[in-house]
Amino acid sequence: MSHREELAEIVDGLTAPRKHVSPKYFYDERGSQLFDRITELPEYYLTATEIDIMQRHAREIADRVGPQASLIEFGSGSSLKTRILLGHLHELAAYVPVDISEEHLLAAADAIRAEFPHIEVLPVVADFTKPFDLPSPKVMPVRNLVYFPGSTIGNLEYDDALGLLRVMHHEAGDNGALLIGVDLQKDPAVIEAAYNDAAGVTAKFNLNMLRRLNNEFGADFDLDAWAHDARYDPDAGRVVIRLVSDREQQVRIDDTTIEIDEGEAILTEYSHKYTLEGFAAMAAKAGFEVAQVWTDPDELFSVQYLLRRQEPRYED
Ligand code: AVJ
Repeated sequence: MSHREELAEIVDGLTAPRKHVSPKYFYDERGSQLFDRITELPEYYLTATEIDIMQRHAREIADRVGPQASLIEFGSGSSLKTRILLGHLHELAAYVPVDISEEHLLAAADAIRAEFPHIEVLPVVADFTKPFDLPSPKVMPVRNLVYFPGSTIGNLEYDDALGLLRVMHHEAGDNGALLIGVDLQKDPAVIEAAYNDAAGVTAKFNLNMLRRLNNEFGADFDLDAWAHDARYDPDAGRVVIRLVSDREQQVRIDDTTIEIDEGEAILTEYSHKYTLEGFAAMAAKAGFEVAQVWTDPDELFSVQYLLRRQEPRYED
């Protein structure tokens, strides 16, 4: 997407009846740094728990996948989880990280090459929400393993999550599989603490969205006039993350003046939490069968291995 298209998307969201900005705009340089700090917070159980699950079960995961797979990661793959997987998979045919940000992707690919010199690394610059072409590794892969860690799927609402699973199903191909990190429904207090940390890093991360709109898109948000707000809605199974205006105000962006009431909010992110049954039902609609689920002793988080069903069933 060009800068112009991004600006149009942002203005559309800010002038909608319920104001919103896509969570993808969190991740400028400062936003990415703040997110890294979030993953180290004591309240943010997701990252540490997923890494722990990967470490404890890496050998079993590798045995499940079998030799000569091509690992296709949706995202640029700079995480420790990817390294754990790369260190355990048997005779990998190739590692294919897929990301829209070329800069990010190539830097991450180089880092992986340096650490795993025997693995063929074939980065693909693409928007993975739509089907894309896969490169051909020198070694013919026995199967494609799509990898999507971090419960990033949680950002998406049902239809978009299902759409993404369908793209993964397509890219996995015959004999393909999916390994995905999925955060689970649990005590609302535990979830709410993860998004309202005592050190206030998540609040900074959320507010950084407005700083970025000012810096990169010429908006004039007053960062002192907005407050971080994150609540878990147990019925919907999701955290709703917003920025709430503490006064009536006007904001300008790209020749558009936005009128904001006191207490009015901008939705910046959903973070969906699943039940094992709920996730399996959605995955089935995309043509995947859950073959194995690994969780931690408290069942906070899950790493799930899904196989492509032979006959995809398209129904809604
Ligand atoms: C990267 C989408 C998995 O939903 O937990 C963390 C993002 N937002 N704290 C999440 C996030 C606020 C995170 N995901």
